Amino acid sequence: MSKIVKLPGLVDVHVHLREPGNIQKEDFATGSKAAIAGGYTTIFDMPNNPNPIVDNISLEEKIDLAPGRIFCDLGFHFGGSKVSVPFFEQVKKKVWGLKVYMNHTTGPLLIEDQNDLELIFANWPKSKIIMVHAEGPTLATAIDLAKRHGQRLHVCHLSLASEIDQVRIAKEAGMPITAEVSAHHLFLTNEDLKRLGPFGIMKPPLSSKKDVEYIWKNLDVLDMVASDHAPHTVDEKLKSENPPFGVPGLETTLPLLLNAVAEKRLTLERVIELTSTNPKKVFGLSSRHFESAFGETKNLNGSFSPLGARAQDDNNTYIEVDLDEQWEIRNEFLYTKCGWTPFNGVKVKGRVKKVVLREVPVFNGEQIMVAVGQVIYP
Ligand code: DOR
Ligand code: ZN
Ligand code: ZN
Repeated sequence: MSKIVKLPGLVDVHVHLREPGNIQKEDFATGSKAAIAGGYTTIFDMPNNPNPIVDNISLEEKIDLAPGRIFCDLGFHFGGSKVSVPFFEQVKKKVWGLKVYMNHTTGPLLIEDQNDLELIFANWPKSKIIMVHAEGPTLATAIDLAKRHGQRLHVCHLSLASEIDQVRIAKEAGMPITAEVSAHHLFLTNEDLKRLGPFGIMKPPLSSKKDVEYIWKNLDVLDMVASDHAPHTVDEKLKSENPPFGVPGLETTLPLLLNAVAEKRLTLERVIELTSTNPKKVFGLSSRHFESAFGETKNLNGSFSPLGARAQDDNNTYIEVDLDEQWEIRNEFLYTKCGWTPFNGVKVKGRVKKVVLREVPVFNGEQIMVAVGQVIYP
């Protein structure tokens, strides 16, 4: 039995593709293949590379590594830090959001100094969005900063009941705030840590069963599911006393969500909202944008021209999933370079069978075909 349905291409606003600097973990080619296999046609890459993306040159150098090697469309975020503030005006047309790391995690981009935070929040262009890694009590500081500076705030990877409450209160007060949750915080709890060991270590950490239940009960507060795809090699996870934070997620997020649909924990309509409609809306990938500024290509002289690139729309870009196919997630079938998932061995119902990007079939359920992805600018 099979039940094939067509869905819009998924959008993941939060992935770490590790290039440049950590391509033993992932690179643009392997990471964007993983995205396609997971049903994503657009992803946004985070700036916490070993040399963080905090100036125009490092951003340009990173972007220049992508053309010709990406299997889905790829956009970029900029890193918030004291030293990146002078570049805000210069980069605003090249990046989708500013990422501010307010707690310790992978990479050197931690901002804890209140003066630095004020400077960053005061200067980021108000028309754009600030994404925060702000766990637990830090979230209140982020909300306060965004309010006082009149910024749109996007809260990454909510994982606690108390965070849900803070976001709900801010939304009810009319603040322009949005939030995402990652699949590992929906489908794993800290009880899985014993079994997973270092492969269950990430930031924010896996939550208690109570928190996870609270997130499920309050799913209406959430705007999107983002993978926070954060690959690290098996060796790095096993051989260090302090294993690096993060788990891959691009290839497992949609299957897990479809399985939740099969289990009637979620509707398919809500999955589409959380993985496609809302991320497009929040980050300005609207059809209006698709027609006007979307898909610009960079000229050799560094200026931007709308020539040579075509936009995605729901007719030319879509995926097909089989809602009835039952299968087991296995490490050995993954495209991500890291080659493992915390969901290895999990049986799910719902599988990506086809991905079409701008009329080009790029995945047939078994093989990834061509690298026709584009770098995309807001
Ligand atoms: O677990 C995480 N890994 N959390 C983050 O915030 C960063 C990410 C990474 O880049 O490895
Ligand atoms: Zn984070
Ligand atoms: Zn992240």
